[in-house]
Amino acid sequence: MARCLRPLCAVLALASSALALSNVCADIEKLISPASAVYYPNDTSAHYAADVAHWAASSSQVAACSVEPGTAVDVSKILKLIGRTRTPFAVRGAGHTMNLGWSSTTGVHIAMKRFASVQYNADSQTVDIGAGLRWDDVYAALAPFGVNVVGGRVNGVGVAGFTLGGGFSYKTNQYGLTVDTVVAYELVKPNGAIVNVTECSEPDLFFGLKGGMNNFGIVTRFTLKTHPQSQVWGGLIAYVGQEPAVSAAVAKFSATSTDPKAAILPSYNFVQGQLAISHFVFYDGPTPPPGLFDDFLAIPSVVQDVSTRSFLSLVQSGHSEVYAGHRGAFHSLCLLAYTPAMMAAIANETNFWGAKLAPSGASFISYAVEPFLPSLYTHNPDGTPTAFPFARTDPGLLPLNLYYAWAPPGTVGGPDGTFHAAMKASVAHLLRVAAADGQDVARAPLYPNYVLADTPLERVYGRNLPRLRAIRRRVDPHRVMGLAGGLKF
Ligand SMILES: Cc1cc2nc3c(=O)[nH]c(=O)nc-3n(C[C@H](O)[C@H](O)[C@H](O)COP(=O)(O)OP(=O)(O)OC[C@H]3O[C@@H](n4cnc5c(N)ncnc54)[C@H](O)[C@@H]3O)c2cc1C
Ligand SMILES: *[C@@H]1O[C@H](CO)[C@@H](O)[C@H](O)[C@H]1NC(C)=O
Ligand SMILES: *[C@@H]1O[C@H](CO)[C@@H](O)[C@H](O)[C@H]1NC(C)=O
Ligand SMILES: *[C@@H]1O[C@H](CO)[C@@H](O)[C@H](O)[C@H]1NC(C)=O
Repeated sequence: MARCLRPLCAVLALASSALALSNVCADIEKLISPASAVYYPNDTSAHYAADVAHWAASSSQVAACSVEPGTAVDVSKILKLIGRTRTPFAVRGAGHTMNLGWSSTTGVHIAMKRFASVQYNADSQTVDIGAGLRWDDVYAALAPFGVNVVGGRVNGVGVAGFTLGGGFSYKTNQYGLTVDTVVAYELVKPNGAIVNVTECSEPDLFFGLKGGMNNFGIVTRFTLKTHPQSQVWGGLIAYVGQEPAVSAAVAKFSATSTDPKAAILPSYNFVQGQLAISHFVFYDGPTPPPGLFDDFLAIPSVVQDVSTRSFLSLVQSGHSEVYAGHRGAFHSLCLLAYTPAMMAAIANETNFWGAKLAPSGASFISYAVEPFLPSLYTHNPDGTPTAFPFARTDPGLLPLNLYYAWAPPGTVGGPDGTFHAAMKASVAHLLRVAAADGQDVARAPLYPNYVLADTPLERVYGRNLPRLRAIRRRVDPHRVMGLAGGLKF
């Protein structure tokens, strides 16, 4: 008898939590102003589907309802209700996280898309950006003013998650991470208070929001510094069968380039049974200095979409939509230098795991090499510390981002565990190669926007963790933001 009761209890518990959730959704409908709306899975207007969708299929869940708040006051009402009823929820910017549950939920899904205004303030050289926007929208809105911000490098990526994690940009060599350029956050705190957080108003919280992800509330607006923006030079070069020459050129560029306006982003990809390199070159000006990119231009390529163009056009040459809808994951490590030995190991990892994971349905096995200047972390104003990165050493630690994709659209589910385990094995191998290469990076901070969900908090936040936990205890004593997924302090 006791054995039979257990499943019955489970079914009843499930039914009662579904009922509780639908009550919360209905209560939200009653609370909010006409600027906001609630949608259910039965929605035929496509709002619900767009709200819960993610760039990677593996990051999506079926939420009880999606809510599109249109005002900070409505966000506050929603968050207070969620806290009171202990309802699982998610906050989504543009849905580009690779981790399930970080901006998805089976509870109340808050889609920020109605926070969509871009307000340029010429006097203060800043811009107010709604938390529901993608970088593409921001670049387009700022272009007429001849200014720009430190933001995403390929099309479609959201401002909110990117900025809350740190933000590596084509402009990072000049101005630092996106967090180094934030001057204010409009924040709905876990207790529902709506505040502008600045260095002066709440230095602790300002520090925490600079890399601390969704631990401290829901951001409705980011105020970023702007910089003058001319036309830029660059775009995509794709190589097949040229790995030794490209690796040599990348290692040389990485060791010798000192021009902060120059950036490269080569990705080593195993696709359709072979190694291909998609290489982005960027110069923040209409023409690069003579010689800087000649090595890359001289290697025979299969695509060369390089020109003088608008910043937005360059970002859109990234074509990130190609792998949208596949299942996928990111994972990463940091290096002190992209040496020839590391480049060889990265090429070997790409080939090794590409071939090994093909039978499991791999569609794209990729290693994105990010050789910023060693000074990339020296641009934080007045040396203000930020939640990420916890170490601002010079030479700075350079991220290497693994992106594996599998189970393309049309397939159901996928062996996610196989791919996550392979990524961990690959990172462990690359750390051994780095150690043998004289690079002491086993404890280097990992970028929160590039890690698998089960990465220990210490590996991401290191010695900042006690301070972040203390801020969390003060700002969110009842762990309301713990009802949403993510790295939790
Ligand atoms: C194709 C692609 C290219 C990328 N390129 C880069 C790159 O060049 N540089 C780089 O640094 N990163 C890059 N990333 C990583 C990127 O920073 C993360 O994917 C980031 O999560 C994107 O933000 P989002 O708003 O789209 O994410 P979402 O999935 O919407 O959100 C991510 C996290 O932020 C939280 N969040 C979102 N909105 C809010 C809010 N308003 N208040 C509080 N919490 C919120 C969510 O709860 C979630 O935990 C890239 C990712 C992809 C898929
Ligand atoms: C859709 O689902 C919601 C919540 O269950 C319900 O209130 C609403 O009546 C449904 N709408 C339609 C058109 O079925
Ligand atoms: C935050 O600052 C902006 C710009 O100065 C202002 O418009 C807004 O009302 C402020 N919000 C709050 C909650 O004080
Ligand atoms: C290639 O990578 C695999 C997997 O990490 C590793 O076992 C192997 O030793 C590497 N080979 C070389 C030549 O580096």
